Amino acid sequence: MCLEGGCGACVVTLKGVHPVTKEKTTWAVNSCLQNIYSCHGLDIITVEGIGSKKNGMHQVQKRLANFNGTQCGYCSPGMVMNMYSLLESKNGKVTMEEVENSFGGNICRCTGYRPILDAFKSLASDADETLLNLCKDIEDLDGTKTCPKTGTPCIGSCSAIGKVDPKHSLKLTFEDDREWHKIYNLTELFKVMGTIGYRPYQLVAGNPAHGVYRRSADLKVFIDISSVEELRGFKVNDNTLEIGGNVTLTEAMEIFTKVANEKKGFESLKEFVTHIDLIANVPVRNNGTIAGNLALKYANLSFPSDVFVVLEAVGAKIVLFSGAQKQDEHNPLAPSDFLNVSMRRKVIGKIIFPSLSSSFVFRSYKIMPRAQNAHSYVNAAFLLQFNEEKTFIKSASICFGGIDDFFDHAEKLEKFLIGKDIYLNEVLQNACEVLEKEIKPDSDPSISSPEFRKHLAISLFYKFVLNTSPSDKVKSEFKLGGETLKREISSGQQQIDVNEGKSKLYKRIPKVEADIQCTGEAQYVNDIPKFENELHAAFVLGDKVNGRIKSIDASEALNISGVVAFYAAKDIPGLNNFMPLRFKMFNLKIEEVFCRDKLLYHGQPVGIVLAETFDLAYKARKFIKIDYSFDHDDEPIYPTIREVMKAKADDRLFDVPEYYLKASEYGNDKQHKISGHFEIPSTQYHYSMETQQCLVVPSEDDCLDVYSSAQWSDTNQISIAEVLNIPVSNVNTYVRRLGGAFGGKISRQGQIACAAALGSYLTKKPVRLIMSMEDNMRAIGKRFSSMSDYVAEVDNLGKIQTLKHHYIHDQGCSPNEVVQFNTSVYIGNCYNIKSWDVTTQSALTHSASNTWMRAPGTTDAIAMTEHVMEHIARVVGRDPIDVRMENLEDGSEFKTMIPTFINDVKYRERKAAIDKFNLKNRWVKRGIAVSPMKYFIAYFGSMHGIVSIYHGDGSVALSTGGVEMGQGLNTKVMQVASHVLGIPFEKISIKPSNSLNNANDIGSVASVTSEVACYIVKKCCEILMERMKPFKDENPEASWEEIVENAFLKNTDLSATYMYKQEEMETYYVYGLSCAEVEVDLLTGNILLKRVDILEDTGESMSPGIDIGQIEGGFVMGLGIWLTENLIYDPKTAELLTDRSWNYKPPGAKDIPIDFRIKLVQKKPNPCFVLRSKAVGEPPVTMGVVVSFAIRHAIDSARKDNGCEDLWYVLSPPISPEKIILAAGLNIKDFKLN
Ligand SMILES: Cc1cc2nc3c(=O)[nH]c(=O)nc-3n(C[C@H](O)[C@H](O)[C@H](O)COP(=O)(O)OP(=O)(O)OC[C@H]3O[C@@H](n4cnc5c(N)ncnc54)[C@H](O)[C@@H]3O)c2cc1C
Ligand code: FES
Ligand code: FES
Repeated sequence: MCLEGGCGACVVTLKGVHPVTKEKTTWAVNSCLQNIYSCHGLDIITVEGIGSKKNGMHQVQKRLANFNGTQCGYCSPGMVMNMYSLLESKNGKVTMEEVENSFGGNICRCTGYRPILDAFKSLASDADETLLNLCKDIEDLDGTKTCPKTGTPCIGSCSAIGKVDPKHSLKLTFEDDREWHKIYNLTELFKVMGTIGYRPYQLVAGNPAHGVYRRSADLKVFIDISSVEELRGFKVNDNTLEIGGNVTLTEAMEIFTKVANEKKGFESLKEFVTHIDLIANVPVRNNGTIAGNLALKYANLSFPSDVFVVLEAVGAKIVLFSGAQKQDEHNPLAPSDFLNVSMRRKVIGKIIFPSLSSSFVFRSYKIMPRAQNAHSYVNAAFLLQFNEEKTFIKSASICFGGIDDFFDHAEKLEKFLIGKDIYLNEVLQNACEVLEKEIKPDSDPSISSPEFRKHLAISLFYKFVLNTSPSDKVKSEFKLGGETLKREISSGQQQIDVNEGKSKLYKRIPKVEADIQCTGEAQYVNDIPKFENELHAAFVLGDKVNGRIKSIDASEALNISGVVAFYAAKDIPGLNNFMPLRFKMFNLKIEEVFCRDKLLYHGQPVGIVLAETFDLAYKARKFIKIDYSFDHDDEPIYPTIREVMKAKADDRLFDVPEYYLKASEYGNDKQHKISGHFEIPSTQYHYSMETQQCLVVPSEDDCLDVYSSAQWSDTNQISIAEVLNIPVSNVNTYVRRLGGAFGGKISRQGQIACAAALGSYLTKKPVRLIMSMEDNMRAIGKRFSSMSDYVAEVDNLGKIQTLKHHYIHDQGCSPNEVVQFNTSVYIGNCYNIKSWDVTTQSALTHSASNTWMRAPGTTDAIAMTEHVMEHIARVVGRDPIDVRMENLEDGSEFKTMIPTFINDVKYRERKAAIDKFNLKNRWVKRGIAVSPMKYFIAYFGSMHGIVSIYHGDGSVALSTGGVEMGQGLNTKVMQVASHVLGIPFEKISIKPSNSLNNANDIGSVASVTSEVACYIVKKCCEILMERMKPFKDENPEASWEEIVENAFLKNTDLSATYMYKQEEMETYYVYGLSCAEVEVDLLTGNILLKRVDILEDTGESMSPGIDIGQIEGGFVMGLGIWLTENLIYDPKTAELLTDRSWNYKPPGAKDIPIDFRIKLVQKKPNPCFVLRSKAVGEPPVTMGVVVSFAIRHAIDSARKDNGCEDLWYVLSPPISPEKIILAAGLNIKDFKLN
């Protein structure tokens, strides 16, 4: 969870009376930003309030559950409440488009969004037939709990609405001299302001600003103005529209739409609506106000306010109030002038929008890293006034944001344009040149380069001119350049085998925990109720790389009331290390729980502070002072592999010869020599919605009960025992479920668990360590980044004769977890590698030790090789798919799979059509690509399971060492148990894993855990069935319960355990193919993912709904690597600059393929696995690379138009708008009309 309005996991619903209309309204808010005192007089409705499994679920909950819209379930309550609020706010009537547009602020890292959107679109008034048909099977929709008083769905408690008297303000005072005022009118507002004196104060509108810039801890007075009637209304005059300063962004959109439709001269307000729709997300816009947004810009000039840029361009005026009846002397103010006046004890009272005659043309733009919920690289708003004939410009307002702190108007361009006809080539060209000279963006490495932003500003102006130009003046090839990409409503198709059998095995069924995930009843670590005397822990992070810790002074922090302790390396009674060294399976090196001496990376934990609350622990750590010394003044810092390579720092590189591949024979037909470079420079953050967390509770006999979000509890148990110097058996671990993990909670969890255990052991109190998103991003390692260089010699058909490939992985700061053991296996993908020589190294950098992340090493391995194939195709001039066919290994499955697949998806026909489209369009290009994936599945270690039948009623409980983290393990296990025992799901329950039942179990890793857990449960159930056979044979008509009881009476053991061993399993391959089609706007760098087809071989899928979800979610996670996710480090300090939801962007709901088609290979049971299925979690991630090839196809056409040399070029992920624009080789000299 982000705690800043960026992820949506915390969304709840508010209901109240609007201060102006007095109507009852409903809206979604992010509870992490909603001040509880602001809820005075409102109803707060949480996910628990609208339904529960026992008392009946709300239809929103039911739909999400039944459409397989949950995996780990951590995002599900937020999703439910966002949809619930939407429905309530629109009286139950929403369109599919509204649904699709409303989830920009709800991140789901697991599902890939498609099933969530389908579930909610099925509730829309225009829901399509296919979705409605899916609902037919959803029984129990009427189970919604209904309030006996109102007849409407029960919200859990009775309403507070109307119980508050708006004539009386409210004042709360707190021990630390802080005050909270809830006021209802301007008179009260200025009365309170008059009492403030010099104390720092804040007006509270909706409070989302805290999500962008953290509120100062020094604030003493808070004045809640959200119910001030005078600030929330609007008025339409003859030539102006006035809206109250604290009209919310959502309300502003409604007002603008209404006025634009009803009143002449205000048509351009529609453009505002489109722009505001791109600000933040629905819950933030529901609370965020026009005035609050402007005030944010006022306080932080670098804030790329969208409101500011649009208001400034259109000539809107701000009216300040400095008293209840008093307007400010400066009124009315242009937004740019407002930035220069004192705001002490003043409020933004209203905004005045002018009407614009038909001689005006207004457009605005916002270009950002993903489709929704991101701040802009550059935003722009342009207003031109023409003479009647539209032959010259009378006035011009050209505004840009995101250039530098002070830039608003392009004044030189504005001057230049007066009297000119911009729809003449020459004038346009000169205008672009003026702009090029005028715009000088500042440098902000966490956003994008100044060159890109300058280019973007010019191309946005060009886009505007194309868009507003008389149609006959624009060459047809240029016309689409004037449009913004239009995303249609997305849809999905899933083609799976239908299994006719009676049992639920091999059937598409909802996840077993889906209901409790959608009702908020599913319990994660941080849902475990608070213990008495419980303490909260926060890591203290070091920030001077290469510095040696001389001393740490925690005295100031410890003086704060409620702060209990600070512990560092010196307090560890055992070994300062969280790697399970005694675990001989891996060759592990020490990694310190707390840095004792030299800081290895910016963000490395140096200790923990313990306090009575979460907020206090995080506050206290700021008062802890660390003193460092340095061995040398200029010891180099290498945040990433790029700096290591640039500095040729060989001492940071080490060979990993055990993973070299050696060619066995070379070909002789060497017609072309191809050399190139490939890199995935930025690693990927796991972004599990549940951050790393652990709760440790002291228990009897000097034991510790450890509830951690761990994928591998056994290693945690060993590390904790080693750190505390206690027996391993004194550490009791429990894992119920994880809110996502993706590999990040395999080994790294040890550090969190050890730190929390140390706190608990030393204080003898329960300690809860919940990492904030920023800490999680800074302190914990991520996906290994990689780069490679290759030289291939090929024949004229592109068949490889020799290949020398050298790749390097970025280890981060430790050599643990060498991922080459994966990369070396997968780098061959589906190709004949007899002539390949592959060598590899690892690089040590100054970043957190990188770690396993879904498809680790394999994602880059397959990408590297497919990249080489694309490069070869370019050089030999063949279609890349033909070059791939040329290089397939003998007897490859793909020899038949590829032709069938490309035929099914009509690859060649679509490619021909795309090439035609590209010839006819200069500024919008399309691309298509196909890529294969062959994924090796292997098993390791051992794992236990237990199945117990209770003779009391024949119910069954089971547990395995497998951890449910969204992959659907529990559902599959349940399907198997129900199938083998022949009893319904209702009779079976799944219990958490723990260190008693699951002693020494291997972690839940590498996609195979579901298969392994199913195998174990199958074995246990078979043992039990064998034991009960005599009793069934004796009485074939007896019920299950009778057979159980009879067996019990004969002292039959009704508990069975089984331990799976790696040797029992055979390895096998998963095959997959993907095809992606994209549309690229070359003037903005934005893309539309028009269609993606995936064919994956899941064997005989045990649970096709779950497997489809894994494929879609995995693919979308892969998309993140190639399109949007970027970890940027400060080159001087190695500080991670993108450590928040504000600047690190996984794909959102509108970044997924518009047309997303998944097909499972039909009727192909896996002979290597007793249950005939295949692993499914990781392989789809590797298929995301296909999108990069499709984009390359589009850019290739642009480069040709732009006169670039027909050479291969490096296009490293993430392929951001910046990379696209720069790679396309655009030249502003080509920005013409015809
Ligand atoms: C996740 C997220 C994404 C966002 N993305 C964008 C984006 O892309 N583009 C964008 O432009 N914005 C963005 N924002 C900002 C958002 O648009 C809000 O408008 C902004 O946070 C202000 O919120 P608020 O009005 O509730 O003010 P608050 O948060 O309540 O207060 C903010 C400041 O405004 C002052 N203030 C409030 N009302 C008045 C008034 N009447 N007179 C004087 N001062 C006043 C307060 O004193 C305070 O200092 C984002 C915010 C979040 C949380
Ligand atoms: S939006 Fe509130 S926790 Fe992320
Ligand atoms: S199910 Fe959405 S984050 Fe896991």
